[in-house]
Amino acid sequence: MAYSRITGVGHYVPENIITNEYLTTLMDTSDAWITERTGIKERRYFTKGKDTNASMATEASKMALARANLSATAIDFIIYATITPDYFFPGPGFILQRNLGIAGIGVLDIRDQCSGFVYALSVADQFIRSGMYQNILVVGAEIQSTFLNHTTEGRGVAVIFGDGAGAAVVQATQEENHRILSTHLHADGTYAEDLYVKEPGSSSGSKFYEQLLENPQMGDVVMNGNAVFKHAVVRFPEVIKEALTHNQLQSSDIDLLIPHQANLRIAEYVRQQLGLTPAQVMTNIQYYGNTTAASIPIAMSEAWEQGRINAGDLVCLAAFGSGFTWGSALLRW
Ligand code: ACO
Repeated sequence: MAYSRITGVGHYVPENIITNEYLTTLMDTSDAWITERTGIKERRYFTKGKDTNASMATEASKMALARANLSATAIDFIIYATITPDYFFPGPGFILQRNLGIAGIGVLDIRDQCSGFVYALSVADQFIRSGMYQNILVVGAEIQSTFLNHTTEGRGVAVIFGDGAGAAVVQATQEENHRILSTHLHADGTYAEDLYVKEPGSSSGSKFYEQLLENPQMGDVVMNGNAVFKHAVVRFPEVIKEALTHNQLQSSDIDLLIPHQANLRIAEYVRQQLGLTPAQVMTNIQYYGNTTAASIPIAMSEAWEQGRINAGDLVCLAAFGSGFTWGSALLRW
């Protein structure tokens, strides 16, 4: 029986630090409001001409490959989660493949928003368990700063999001005690418009740039913050408990929970619901904001660097996001 395990994690964040204080020069907001509501103190924005979605993913992937002690040429499939691709199509997975010099292997670009990395990891786990692939590169990367409305009108959303990339090398293993134990995926399209970007969509029947001239706000992120909060605080604990129950484990067995870095208040609520200590929960939203599909792999890579993930640890990844989507992955590291 083949299992899969994560053998290397990496991340890349752009060098351009955007503090809450800087945002107060663009819109009517304050460090106190942002810190109290979200826990975010700063985030990173990409540097135009230097960073792209795929270039950041390439750096994160090289780090993950080095830590896995694996050459890029050994990768036999790429799964890439993003909602902010370099081009409308093809997706950035193809550019990553080109950058790594591994033409010929299959590339799967997926969305699934803030749950994108957990969905991608689940697909990788299934492909490896089925025997189809041995070494899969799983990536989450976002450039969101381009799409934010940096005026007072857009402040409810703009202060939350940031840019960055994370990657994991997932490899086949026979080891029962070091592997992905299970993944659990869910969605409810009833709430699709509670967190979405409407345009450029194909059903409007007119060219995006023509509409944009009339209504510059049409490409903005729309978020029903209260609805997102209410669903997130239910779905996060639910899907984590589902993973634990499936594996006959309990919250106290978790060495490290790495939640999607949506909002520090949500993470704190989930921590309390599960009876976990602060040491059992990884948070770095304070420094990077919400980086959507990139947030879990960036947090996982930093947690590994900080020595918070060790061989044999029970690590739980959990996500909730637009769609609505939610999911978890339980790993025995
Ligand atoms: N700075 C200052 N004031 C602001 C800002 C800002 N950046 N944004 C909104 N406000 C104002 C509003 O205009 C409103 O003013 P009013 O009372 O004069 O009308 C006031 O603050 C309160 O607005 P609310 O939207 O009710 O603020 P709330 O306390 O609900 O906080 C928030 C908003 C942080 C979005 C909250 O709803 C929340 O945490 N939601 C969860 C959503 C989330 O975390 N999304 C993350 C991305 S999605 C994901 O990853 C799953």
